[in-house]
Amino acid sequence: MSTLTRNDVTGRIMVALDYANAESAEGLLKQLQGIPCYVKVGMQLFYAAGPTFVASLKDRGYKVFLDVKMHDIPNTVKGGAESVTRLGVDVFNVHAAGGKHMMEAALEGIDKGLAVGAARPMVIGVTQLTSTSQQVLNDEIGLAGTTEQAVIRYARLAQAAGLQGVVASPLEVTAIKAACGDSFVTVTPGIRPAGADVGDQSRIMTPAEAFAQGTDYVVIGRPITGAADPRAAIEAIIESIV
Ligand code: C5P
Repeated sequence: MSTLTRNDVTGRIMVALDYANAESAEGLLKQLQGIPCYVKVGMQLFYAAGPTFVASLKDRGYKVFLDVKMHDIPNTVKGGAESVTRLGVDVFNVHAAGGKHMMEAALEGIDKGLAVGAARPMVIGVTQLTSTSQQVLNDEIGLAGTTEQAVIRYARLAQAAGLQGVVASPLEVTAIKAACGDSFVTVTPGIRPAGADVGDQSRIMTPAEAFAQGTDYVVIGRPITGAADPRAAIEAIIESIV
């Protein structure tokens, strides 16, 4: 049992629209009609349906997290941030591994792209992908130490650059809040309701456990999009939290 209301919880669920085209995404949106969750547009849908689709989401009043995980030289990220700010997205992200200067460049891009009176998008840093296990971190990526140590280092760097928060696993929320403060936002994918397929995710928790850790937003894809009845799936998730 939590103190969160149904509306609080719903506004903190980001549904990953991981679809190949706008038509498929529209099918899900129709099923979730009237549920005031965020929608997350990632690279698959953005590369296929592009800015037009995002603009149409914004026209219809959706809160949009554009998950394109920018990672390039600072000048290019600055330009990318300017462009997505003009699109009116509410949240977008950049890889913390791109370094402090690159993250600062994203904030400069927002300044350039922001229309007078428009709300500033929130920028969050990607720490370690939730599919990254300890073994992959050490043996393939070549970073020493634990996943949590790597995540905390990235979170501190993102905060030093002026970002509002990070994407991380729900397993790292407590440590991130301890290192960066409670108001530093955590967005957590790697969410699996009890009994759901884990798929390629590695560092996971149930939605209720993630909120109990103090996360600000949960990102949920396949447990909703892959369900026979997506509306019933999100309703069950909301019910499991409030
Ligand atoms: O289907 P599933 O619930 O695993 O979807 C998780 C979503 O969150 C995907 O769209 C994935 O790209 C995204 N994501 C992630 N780990 C990150 C950042 C984003 O899984 N660190």
